[in-house]
This record gives sequence, structure tokens and C-alpha cells, in this order.
Amino acid sequence: MRRSLVVLLAACSTPAADGPADTGDTPGEVVGCDGAGAAPGWAVRTGDAVTVPVGAATLTITHLPDSVVRLSWVADGASPVVRDWLIPTPPVPVPVQVAGQGDTALVCGPDLVVSVDPVGRVQIRDADGVLLLDTPSDGAWGRTPQGEVQFNATVTATTAFHGLGEKAGPLNLRGRQWDLDNTDAYDASRGGWGPNADPLYLSVPLVIGVDDGRAWGLFTDTARRATVDLGVAEDTQWSMRTAGGTFDQYVLAGPRLPDVLRRFTALTGRAPLPPGWALGYHQSRWGYRPDSQVADLAATFRNLDLPADSVWLDIQAQDGFRSFTFDPVDFPDPEGLFAHLHTLGIHAVSIVDPGLKVDPAWPVFTAARDGGHLLTTASGAVYEGTAWPGTSAWPDFSRAATRSWWAGEIAAFAGRGVDAIWLDVNEPTTFPEGGGGTTVPDDVPIDGDGAGGTMADLHNAYGLLEARATVDGLRRARPDARPFVLSRAGTAGIQRYAAVWTGDAPSAWWSLQQQLPMLLNLGLSGVPFVGSDVGGYSGGASPELFARWMALGTISPFFRGHVTQGVPGQEPWAFGIEVTDISRQLLGRRQRLLPYLYSLADAAHRTGAPMLRPLAWELPAAPGVSRDDEAFLGPWLLVAPVVTEGATTREVYLPPGRWYEWASGAAWDGPVTVQRPVTLAALPTFVREGAIVPLGPVQPWVDAAAPEAFELALYPGPEPSRFTWYDDAGDGDPGVDHAALAITLTPDDAGATVQIIRETRDGVTGTRRPAPWLDLTVWRADGAVDGVTVDGVAVPAASAWPPEGAGWWRDPGALALRVRLPFPPADATIALAYDRALSDLRPPVTVPLTVHLPPGTSGTPYVATDASGWTHVPLAHDGDVATGTITVPRGEWYLYKYSRGDWCTVEKYPDCVEATDRYALGTPAPRDDTVYGWRDACDDACP
Ligand code: GLC
Repeated sequence: MRRSLVVLLAACSTPAADGPADTGDTPGEVVGCDGAGAAPGWAVRTGDAVTVPVGAATLTITHLPDSVVRLSWVADGASPVVRDWLIPTPPVPVPVQVAGQGDTALVCGPDLVVSVDPVGRVQIRDADGVLLLDTPSDGAWGRTPQGEVQFNATVTATTAFHGLGEKAGPLNLRGRQWDLDNTDAYDASRGGWGPNADPLYLSVPLVIGVDDGRAWGLFTDTARRATVDLGVAEDTQWSMRTAGGTFDQYVLAGPRLPDVLRRFTALTGRAPLPPGWALGYHQSRWGYRPDSQVADLAATFRNLDLPADSVWLDIQAQDGFRSFTFDPVDFPDPEGLFAHLHTLGIHAVSIVDPGLKVDPAWPVFTAARDGGHLLTTASGAVYEGTAWPGTSAWPDFSRAATRSWWAGEIAAFAGRGVDAIWLDVNEPTTFPEGGGGTTVPDDVPIDGDGAGGTMADLHNAYGLLEARATVDGLRRARPDARPFVLSRAGTAGIQRYAAVWTGDAPSAWWSLQQQLPMLLNLGLSGVPFVGSDVGGYSGGASPELFARWMALGTISPFFRGHVTQGVPGQEPWAFGIEVTDISRQLLGRRQRLLPYLYSLADAAHRTGAPMLRPLAWELPAAPGVSRDDEAFLGPWLLVAPVVTEGATTREVYLPPGRWYEWASGAAWDGPVTVQRPVTLAALPTFVREGAIVPLGPVQPWVDAAAPEAFELALYPGPEPSRFTWYDDAGDGDPGVDHAALAITLTPDDAGATVQIIRETRDGVTGTRRPAPWLDLTVWRADGAVDGVTVDGVAVPAASAWPPEGAGWWRDPGALALRVRLPFPPADATIALAYDRALSDLRPPVTVPLTVHLPPGTSGTPYVATDASGWTHVPLAHDGDVATGTITVPRGEWYLYKYSRGDWCTVEKYPDCVEATDRYALGTPAPRDDTVYGWRDACDDACP
């Protein structure tokens, strides 16, 4: 039902905390249209649009569905061109009412009311009278002395700003002037971009404001360069300026960040569901050659039991840096290489650069030239600049026929066995070494889909349109497979086509520290599938930096190790045994989380929600949520990656509510700031109460054998909670072979109830059962369990785990209730009757040990741990295997070592090398260790 806006009389007194500031000098008393007078004569209504003169420009106001207002400003004499690059489908306006109040015009839509005064001050309020947008009393629109057009808005001095795409700096972008100008900011002295460098490769003209938990968005539909001032000139104002005579803007209502992103992605599109393997680990570097090295790389991952889903070929694999080619000497049989990789379950990804070598003997170049696909100068000559291949020419991706030609080249390339495409240097970058600038000059004409224009109009959308044509090409090659593209540059809408990485981030601690806020702002710019070069691009990462970056990678939606040429490799095994083992654990953890991550990718596709989210996304009203060194991975996992050198502790803020350490179930009650001791293997991760987290076996997409069971980790909280678990075969059109399971978890007097309901997708209710069994792990069950029923039928109690068939078991080590059920073919209600009270937030945990001893070990083996004052405790001993337990603090790192009773008989590494202390997190998982030797067998006298 249409909500009346009559009662907006009170709107002017809305507290400043609710949205942008109401600066007080409101132009007359604003009311909704129903009770207001006639519109002033200067407000002209044509159909659903209202046009008003504002200084030397005209403003056209339309309302769009779902609380969006479009403000189109056109300077006198300018002729606007509306392009479908950023917004692919033109939004259809909804009917408006027009009225007046004094000399203010009111344009009322179903949910929002716009008021404009004769000076051009614009205000937008929601149905509750809350100001979404306010502008200065002398008008929103102006011109700078340089002749740029400028849009100004007012805010409170405490408004936090987000969005803008890829920005190196804090999550809150306030207090800086930012350039929206896709640029390769490579600094040779750093081997990448420098601290806080701006601009970088990808710009999104979306500004989001958040004040006291209330959010709004303002999106400007332009691919031109622009500058955004976020509270620099005045702390209660922000502005955007650009060359040209128009601003086509969309004001997006909140009140929460998810509302803003839903509206923004309704306009600019959402990320498609990627192929499942794209969420796995990718290994890249500039330099793998020849082909045998690539094959060895893949084999090493498998031999070392390190999960990996793809290897990437950079420009070293090309023939003279020509896109779509392979070096004939080092890669004589790419089809054979890719087929071999595929037998190992490893996908092949190749780079494609847009700068094509000017080479009349190369058919790709001549086809581009002869087909009129290349950008030309005003005189009609092919525009030539410098790129990797030397003198190069660039396709005009704003021309439909060129996109189609490019798609054909991509399709042919993919037909050779390339699974996915990596688009680089598409800002587009030209190398000044050749005497030109750093990009294609602004005055180079473009086709503009028949509407004409110049590179100035296309600049920030060049990569977007290249990605669009690339996706078309992959579809052409493999209509049944989901396209996967990674792009360095882009603008609003890039999420429709590509994942994005943060480019050449140097291998340095400051650079690692900048990644999380960057990834968060990319997510708040509509791009959910984002990551960084694990280990850093410039190379020379220390083992510590690499291990920390690997941990960040496992919580990044896109997870790829990459490094430049001519430096040591940065594969997970390149940093010694300790880091290899840590990498294996981290990669395994990532693999286990894939069903959750895949569900988050599904949510991004349906709602525009980023996978990695700032704390305020989930908990807008909670105190302390402005920090940007921790984040939510989906709704349930709070992650606090360690990003400082030499860290032995990590401060973690836990907002209000109960939090469970991920691996151990240790609990904390927030709000609390804890100093967590960390080791090199630490990735502090806390589960929010109410959590519903689907988990899989390691390598679900690689391992063809069907897993025995999928797991649902459940953390009942004080309120009901909900999560949609999405699963399908990982590629192609899911058809009926999908499971979209809406899972609710409701606490009750008996314990908790889980409801599983199959949702329909595109009108289809899937029938998929990804495994014969579904395991529930209910954290925590410290006390008695009374029983479990499914749809009223009792599940038998089991005496061990896993049970023979269906069964429930209280795991005394984990303090969890485990339930195994046939994977529900349809809807199911599972009642869990157990005591939800915790005996203690963090009771100690007993860890089972199995120790493989050096052959012929004599005497009793012992274990000593710092958790019990390094006292040597005897183990049971049978042949060369010892067994026993240690009791350690739950959720804390502990140290331990094996001996034969004292330090004179302590364990050694092979060849009598001094062994470092073993370390592990206090979890109930059994440990399986190998001792290589004993001190008393070495030439190492003990006093
Ligand atoms: C650019 C890319 C980098 C790539 C290199 C060579 O610097 O950002 O990832 O390795 O070009 O193609």
C-alpha cells in the first residue's frame, strides 16, 4: 500500500544523527505532496519526470522503484549521452506527485520525497521524514574555476564514508580527496604501488555515508575521471567534480548498508555465481616457464598434499607478449599441458592484455586493424602507444562489433584448454617509456556504441567493457560452463563480469595492512569477489610475511598467490617446513569452508551483499564497530588477521553477544577487547552466536569421489537465526541439481530446533543431496543430552563417532552434540534436546596424542607442555608408537615437546638439529606427531 507522505511536517526536526545533517536553514516547511499546495511554475512535469532550472543547468528528477531517486543535472548547452555501460538496463521511473510549499517544489514518489528550492538546494527524505540527502543552501550544483561541474552535499561532521572502489587507506574514507581515475600506480622503487597510493586501478563512483548506523548511497553514472572530496574543504560537506556538463545521479536509501548495496546492485548488476573451483586456491607468478615447470608446479601441490585449484600463466608464456599466443619454444603444446593439468584437477588460467602488438605479420593484429576494431586518432590512423609488446594498439571496446570480434578471439583461445581469463593493464595502461603518457589520451575518439565520444568518456569503463566482451567469449566457447574472469581495472558494474584483485601490492607489512580495508571498500562498492596477491607482488616476502598473507588469503573471497618475475618463488613450500605446514592447515581450512563461501557467493549474487563485510554491516548499532582491522566473513565468522611483524599477541574486539573461538569452541562474552596470544599459524576467528555454517570435506570440487557427509556447524544463540546454504555441482546451470536450504535455528526450552526448508530458485525446487549423510555439530553441549528427533522420530544414541548409521553422540572433548542423519531429501525439523548452559566459558581441553618414535627407541617416552609447567609426563608405549593425552587451555596456543623423561633426552630434528618447541591451538582434535631423534643419541652432552 502506498504510504502517505503528508505527515512530513516533523521532518525538519529530525535529529542530525539520522542520515545527513539537517543544517537548520531548511527552505520553508517541507510537507509531503498530499497536503501541499500547487507546484511552482518553474517545476515542469513531463510524464513521470519533473524538470527544474538550477542556475546554469537543468535538473530532472525521477523516482525509481525501491526508494531510489534519480537526479540528472545537465548544464545549459550540454547534450547528455546516456550509456548502458555501468547501468545495463535503463531503470523505469515510477509515477510521482508534484506539489509546492512556498517557493519549494516537492516531487513525491512512493517512498521518498524530493524538495527543491529555486536556488537549487535539493533535499530528499524518506517516509519517516529522515533526511537522506541534503545540499548547501546556495545549491547543490556548481562549476569550479577550471570549468568542471561540481556536486555538493552536506553531512554531519561524524559521517563515515565508504565505497569509491579500490582505495588504499582506512575503511572510513573521510578526510581525503580521492581521484576516480583508473591508473597503474606502479612505483619501481617499491615494486608496486606505495602506501595510501591514489588513484589505483579501479574506480567506482559510489559514495556511501554512514552516520550513527544509518546509511545512504549516492551513485554517479559516469565513466569519466572525477575527484571526490570527503570532508576536506569542509568537514560537513562532500563534493564530486568532473569535466563535462552532466551529472547523472542515483540517491539510494538505507537505512542499513545491506539496503544501500541491494539498491546499488539492482542498478549496476550483481556478480554471477562463480564456478566452485574459482573459490579455491590459485597459484600464479610472472615467470613459470617452460611448460614442464608448470606441470611440476601442479605435481608439487598434489605431492605435498596442498589443495590448489588452478595455475596461472602470465606474459612469460606468450609469444613476444602477444595476447592469445603461447611461446612456441617453451610452450610448444599448450593443449597437452592443459589437458595434463586437468587430469590433476587443476584448471589453467591465462593472462590477456588489451595492448596488441602492432605487427602486420600477426593475424590477430591485422584482423583487429582491418575490422576497424582499434582505437584511432582523430586523423583516422591507428592510435599507437607502448606496452609489453613494444608498439601496440588498443581495441575500442565501446564498439559492439569490436566486442564481438574480441569475444571470438577469447573463444578461440579458451578452445585451446584455457579455463579462465585474467585481464591485466586494462586501465588502460600505456608505458611512458615509449614517449607517450600512462594511458590512451583523452582526445582519442571512440565509437561509444554509435553515440561517439572520446576516451575521456570511456576511461574508467574501458576494463569493464573489455571484461564484458571476455565473458561473452567464454560463453561462446563453453555455453555450459560458468565464465570466470579476473580483471585489474573496472568501474561500477565490474562485478557482473569479473573478480578483482588489488594489483601490484608490494611484499611489505604496510601493504599487507592496507589489504583488509581495501577489500572491504571494494565489497561496499558492489564487488564481492576480491583478493590480493598472496605474499605481495614485489617478492622477497619473509616466511613470516608470507604466512600472514596466506592467512589473509584464506578469508579473501578471491585467493591467489602471485609474484613478479626475477625474484624467489612464493609458493606455499618456498619458505621452509613450518610455513609449508601452516599453509597446508590454512588451505585445508579454506577448503572446509567452501560450502559456506559458496553460499556467500550465492547471497552476493542474489542480494549484492559482499562476502567479506565490515563489522558495521552485521552490527550497525553495536559500539566499537568502526574498526577496520577485523571483519565478518559472511554473517557468522569474525576474523582478525594478524598483519604486524613480529606479533605475539593480537588485540581482538568482540562486539556484544557470545562468541566462540572457531576451532575450539572456547567462549567469550562481548563486548570485550581481548589480547589473544598468537603464533605464526594463528588466524583469530570467532563465531557469532546463532551461527549456521555449512562445512565440507577438503577438496569438494577436485575429489570426484562423493563425500560421506557434509557438516552443519550450529551455535544456538538467544534469538532465532537463519542462513541459506546453497550447493550445486559447482559449474553449469544447476537446473534441478541444487540444494538451496533455508536453515533456521531456534532456541527453545528443551534445547534448540533446526528447520531445513528447500527454497525454490527460478521457480525450481532442487533435489540435490550432496552426500548420503548430514552431520550436525552443535556447539556447545557441556551438559546432558536428552535426545534428538527428526520430524518427531527419535534418532538413536550412538556410543562413538562416527556412528554406523544415523545417531547422536555427545562429544566430551569438543563439548559438542554431534548428530548424523540421512541427508534430508526434503524439508525436515530436527529437535535437539540438550542442556545449553555452559559449565565454564573456556574449560580446559584434553588432547589425544599419537607419537611415532624413532625406530628402536628405548625407555618410556614423555611429553612436556608449557600448559603444565613443562613437567615431563609419561606416555603409553607400544613398539615405535606412543599414545597419551595432555590437558591444555581451550582456545589458547600451547607449546610442547617429547622427551624420554628430562631435557637430556629431549627430541631432536633429523641430523641432531635442535628441535624448536611444537605449538598448537588448544582444540580437541587429536594430534599425530613424529619424533626424529633424541638428544642422548646425539653428540650433545647434558650437564
Ligand atoms: C602487471 C600485473 C601483474 C603481472 C604483470 C606482468 O604488473 O599487475 O600481476 O604479473 O603485469 O603481466
